Amino acid sequence: MNLQRIVVIGAGTMGSGIAQWFAQQMCSVELVDTSEEQLKKALAGIHSSWDKLVEKEKLTSCQVNQMKKLFEIKTLDQVSKNTDLVIEAIIENLEIKKELFKKLDAYFSPHTIIASNTSSFPISEMATAVSPERKSRFIGLHFFNPATIMKLVEVIKGQETDSKLCEDLYQWFDSKEKKPALSKDSPGFIVNRVARNFYGEPLRIVETDDEVKMKEVDRILKEVGGFKMGPFELMDLIGIDVNYSVTCSVWEAYNKEARFAPHALQKQMVEEKRFGRKNKRGFYKYD
Ligand code: NAI
Repeated sequence: MNLQRIVVIGAGTMGSGIAQWFAQQMCSVELVDTSEEQLKKALAGIHSSWDKLVEKEKLTSCQVNQMKKLFEIKTLDQVSKNTDLVIEAIIENLEIKKELFKKLDAYFSPHTIIASNTSSFPISEMATAVSPERKSRFIGLHFFNPATIMKLVEVIKGQETDSKLCEDLYQWFDSKEKKPALSKDSPGFIVNRVARNFYGEPLRIVETDDEVKMKEVDRILKEVGGFKMGPFELMDLIGIDVNYSVTCSVWEAYNKEARFAPHALQKQMVEEKRFGRKNKRGFYKYD
């Protein structure tokens, strides 16, 4: 497998990280979003991150100049149709994603692989939006936040995804020093199923957004549990809105089992537009 031309749709937390990582593998990358402001913000953030990596001598200025040349921000109708892989990383909303997949299927060449970075929606369900010919090349590629640093990528086979494609992508990521994991197309895949309790139980422990209690839970899980981040810090990094959507969809998929139930505080925070680090207000403040 030789992936050279990549399109990433959605320039938010995940899309910008995924796009940056692919450019660092010297792939040509076109990053798309419906918001021009978001695209400009993502480009500035990626350039600044590369400049810092040069300062820290992790990358050379020659490498970064090449990556900057390989990286473009565009609207969907401007991207190259003859791309190898398109990765969708837009809002976690099934109907909006399916609408987009219909458009992507019609737009891109028959050989283009279409992948979703969804955290929770079944790949086979999303594949119903594409034509029968595309289904074998429709797959889940679930990256973790921050995508440039986290090694794990879940490779998710839908009912009609070609098994050889899953194996080839697994090998390709492995060769790029990611840690791919083949996952079943079940709600929350592997990590987001297990991680529901990492968020849910701490929310049930603190009950309200009491900063002293949250800090204590975060501290204990880091110091005693050995986690790099506490659950409240991690939810702020993921995005409270995204984490809430994922919680709801996994809960629904498991017939509303109590252990997966969303917490009232998550809903309240979404209503208050406290989305976490991305808008500087979450469980903690980031001024
Ligand atoms: P985000 O809210 O940071 O960014 C979403 C972006 O998509 C926004 O910039 C928005 O303008 C854009 N967008 C919305 N509709 C669009 C459309 N039709 N066409 C093009 N752009 C569109 O969301 P985030 O956190 O990056 O999540 C994206 C996806 O990645 C979701 O499916 C989420 O479940 C998944 N994910 C999120 C993780 C996280 O830690 N935040 C981790 C792994 C997966």
